[in-house]
Amino acid sequence: MKRIMITGASGQLGLALYQLLKEQSQYELLRTDAVANEDGSIQALDITDDVKVRTYIEKNLPEIIINCAAYTAVDLCESQEDKAYQINALGPKHLAIAAEKINAKLVHVSTDYVFDGCSFDPYVEDSPTNPMSAYGRTKQSGDVFVRANCSKFFILRTAWVYGEGKNFVKTMLRLAQTNNKVRVVADQYGTPTSALELARAIIFLMETDGYGIYHATCEGSATWYEFAVTIFKTAGIDITVEPITTSEFPTPAKRPMYSVLDNKALRERHNYYMKNWKDAFFEYMTKEGF
Ligand SMILES: NC(=O)c1ccc[n+]([C@@H]2O[C@H](COP(=O)([O-])OP(=O)(O)OC[C@H]3O[C@@H](n4cnc5c(N)ncnc54)[C@H](OP(=O)(O)O)[C@@H]3O)[C@@H](O)[C@H]2O)c1
Repeated sequence: MKRIMITGASGQLGLALYQLLKEQSQYELLRTDAVANEDGSIQALDITDDVKVRTYIEKNLPEIIINCAAYTAVDLCESQEDKAYQINALGPKHLAIAAEKINAKLVHVSTDYVFDGCSFDPYVEDSPTNPMSAYGRTKQSGDVFVRANCSKFFILRTAWVYGEGKNFVKTMLRLAQTNNKVRVVADQYGTPTSALELARAIIFLMETDGYGIYHATCEGSATWYEFAVTIFKTAGIDITVEPITTSEFPTPAKRPMYSVLDNKALRERHNYYMKNWKDAFFEYMTKEGF
């Protein structure tokens, strides 16, 4: 049996990976997160604690470590950059050093926010990075640490993730319960990506030795406004969606205006394609009972 360690196991991606991996008898799963769960199937392991990370990994000897842990509250990262750096930069560094020591593979998940969003074309893996927010900066530092400290690394940059947990889909559906109109930003472009579809790409890649950086979002692109319209249409909710500009919806963190990623390396190195974002979204909504 192959031993897989998943950090951030209670998060959106951690849960999607569990859904897919738990039925596969060739894998033994070690799930950890900031907080343990009641039945003990997820153990507490703070990835900012280098001694605990090293001790856990050297004791349990996973063959593959998938780091889904992160500080993902993008706006809070602006006022808590030190905390974000501990989790998003030093956490992956500790995992990378420990993975290297036991010759394990490390799958690390990064973000479209490492780009500035000034492009008009989809970003490829070697496009220059230029993060505009504390979240983006700290995630970028994490990627640098992973590359510098671990030889068997996969870094997957993804975007606009939704699954089980807090996300844009859940926010829209919640707002629709008490409003008959929502205002949604219509001048930021990206690609909604289901946690399940991202988990599938991770499971595919982790069994290869094609180490390196990958873009891993669903195919196609949309604005938040288009995504919201699709959410309500699919859910059968009659609500007015008003398109607004970014300047009409100020947030502490600056978001990239255009952060569409081209999954060039997945396509060219592995002939691997992710689903179109609408198909992946319909799959998600069907599972959610819509
Ligand atoms: N969500 C998106 O739209 C998006 C977009 C691009 C990239 N990503 C990246 O994709 C990955 C997965 O994201 P996600 O949406 O699944 O995130 P998520 O739902 O926020 O889950 C992150 C998990 O990490 C845990 N965590 C936080 N600090 C920790 C620590 N010090 N030690 C151990 N665990 C800790 C969190 O626990 P608590 O909840 O208890 O803090 C949470 O369970 C992350 O690397 C993220 O940066 C996400």
